[in-house]
Formats: sequence, C-alpha cells, structure tokens
Amino acid sequence: MPTRKTRLTAGAAVAIAVAVAVPMLTDAQDYAPFTGGPTADDLDRLLEEPDDALVVPGREPVDEATLEAGRLVAMGGTEAGGSSMACITCHGANGQGDGSGAFPRLTGQPAWYLYKQLADYAEGSRPNRVMSGIAERMTEAEMEAVALYYAAVDAPFRPVRGEVNGLTLQWGGQLAAVGSAEQGIPACVNCHGASGSGLPPSVPYLAGQYADYMVLQLQLWKAGIRDNDAMDVMSTIADKMTEEDMRAVSEYFARVRPEEDRREGSGGAVRILEQEEPVAAPDANALLPLGD
Ligand code: HEC
Ligand code: HEC
Repeated sequence: MPTRKTRLTAGAAVAIAVAVAVPMLTDAQDYAPFTGGPTADDLDRLLEEPDDALVVPGREPVDEATLEAGRLVAMGGTEAGGSSMACITCHGANGQGDGSGAFPRLTGQPAWYLYKQLADYAEGSRPNRVMSGIAERMTEAEMEAVALYYAAVDAPFRPVRGEVNGLTLQWGGQLAAVGSAEQGIPACVNCHGASGSGLPPSVPYLAGQYADYMVLQLQLWKAGIRDNDAMDVMSTIADKMTEEDMRAVSEYFARVRPEEDRREGSGGAVRILEQEEPVAAPDANALLPLGD
C-alpha cells in the first residue's frame, strides 16, 4: 500500500502527462503561447503506478454501499464522532454550494482530487480555518467515501452572479486558452482540460466553479498559504499573475459551461454566458432527507 504522498504524486503525473492544449478562442491566435514550465517528462519522474480506487477517469459509477457511506459523511455522521458540521450545511447535498462564491462547488470534481484536498487540509499543506478542523476529525475511509460521493452526484450550475465587462472576459479567455508569453503564464487548459472541464484524477475543473473562490485560491497560492500542489505548478503560475489576471480568468471560467456544449454536440467549443441565466436549482438540502 503506497503512502498518501506517493499516491498523490502518481495521480498528478498521470493527469498532467496526458494534458493537451486546446485553444478555445479564435482571437487567441494573436498571442504567442507560453512554452515554459514543468513538462510531462518532469512529472513522469514522480510517477508510480497509481493503484487507488479513487483514481478513476471521470464520473465512474460507484457502488451503493460506498455511495451510502459517503452520503452519511456528507450529512454529518462520521465514525470519528462526526465532523460536527455536516458538509451539506455549506456545500449542499449535491455539492453545489450556496451560490455566494464562499463555498466551492464539489459536484462532479474528480474523486481523487477531492480526497487529496481533505488529506491536505488535515495535514496542513492547505490550511483553512473551517476545513482544516473538519478534515482533521475525519478518518481515511470517510474522506474516501465522501470524495467518491461528491464525485458521483450531479447538479445543475447555479446562475452566475454579477456583471463583468467584455474586455475582462476576453483577457480571461486568452489566459485560459494560451496563457501569456510575456508574463510567463502557461495556458490553463494545458492541465485543466479542454474548456477547463478538468482532467481526472488530479486536476480539478474550473468551468462553472465560483469566481470569488478561484480568485481566493490563486491569492493563497501566491501568498504561499495554499502549498499543496505537486511540483509547485499552481504557486509558480499564481506568482506571475496580477490581481486583474486572477479576476479575469476566474470570471471567465465561472461562465464556461462545457458540459452543455458537449450535449449540443458543438465539439467542445466554449459558450460564455452573456448574462444571468435562470437555472433550475433545487434546494440542495431538500434532495436528501436530513434524517435524525
Ligand atoms: C462551515 C462550512 C463548511 C462545511 C461544514 C464544510 N465545508 Fe468544505 N469548504 C468550506 C470552505 C469555506 C471551503 C474553501 C476553503 C479554502 O479556501 O480552502 C471548503 C473547501 C472544501 C473542499 C476543497 C474543494 C476544492 O475545489 O478544492 C473540499 C473537498 C471540501 N470543502 C469538502 C468538504 C466535506 C467533505 C465536508 C464535510 C465533511 C465539508 N467540506 C464541510 C466550507 C465548509
Ligand atoms: C501544469 C499544470 C497546470 C496548469 C498549466 C494550470 N493548473 Fe491550475 N491546477 C493544477 C493542479 C494539479 C491543481 C490541483 C492542485 C492540488 O492538488 O491542490 C490545480 C488547481 C487549480 C485551482 C484550484 C481549484 C480548486 O477547486 O480549488 C485553480 C483556481 C487553478 N488551478 C487555476 C488555474 C489557472 C487560472 C490556470 C491558468 C492561468 C491554471 N490553473 C493552470 C495544474 C495546473
């Protein structure tokens, strides 16, 4: 049984090794792509055979028992006496968050990525006033079960709040698709998948994540507080970004809806929401009985 750290680097290497850059905007061709930074070869040196049940390509079917165990953790019943705060209080039963941008969307994130974050909160490489205490009280089995649970559930995206000007979105889209050679910022899609839809097992989706949450994470990496990324990939990138860059790319990804595009068969092209769209967003907590 490899240690947690070994499995982590294995996951990251596998995901990044198969990353492909897919330019998304036509006018992005005016910008020279950044070609530096860690390569798949660099990451390959960390590679060990991933053997964890969590390293699954995308949204795999999960067996009923695991799903039920994960659901119980999400509702607050844990072996270690309960995390004292049910995940659904903040993240919702289906991981949608509350739309405020304070709580990240967990719905459909790769199970391995979610599990690793809980382990990192508990171990201290991703310190957070709320999540560290919760994760410290969880057992390994609970982390795995709840990670698989939130990876498996589905939920519509909440409407995007706030207005952003077109130039900001355009700059965000360029950073996402080709990065900035001038600033030494690689294209986000190199690792985060086409349209930012994620690259399991270790690279989370950004498309549809809350902008305020993503800006905060980039700031935390730049400040050296979030320090849990293999080969410092994200801290190196965040270090080169200005506040405006962080805001632009986050507002851009918050408005990308790649899944809808796939359903419409438009070949993964990105559709940016022009304005707030009403989405059927059921009360997250009403989807599962709270039990007693
Ligand atoms: C009191 C509110 C609250 C509760 C309860 C809570 N969380 Fe969180 N969670 C947060 C906040 C706030 C963040 C963002 C923290 C940060 O900036 O790192 C977060 C972040 C996370 C992340 C990181 C997501 C990402 O995209 O990297 C995971 C995973 C997570 N929570 C899982 C859980 C699970 C599982 C539970 C229940 C056992 C839980 N949370 C309970 C507030 C909460
Ligand atoms: C070399 C690969 C790579 C590139 C390029 C990259 N990322 Fe990441 N990113 C990652 C990995 C790996 C993680 C997960 C790190 C961890 O384990 O916490 C991540 C995580 C993130 C997160 C946190 C998501 C969450 O749910 O907490 C944000 C935000 C993010 N990246 C934004 C960006 C942006 C914006 C760009 C482009 C400017 C970018 N990334 C380019 C590999 C990359």
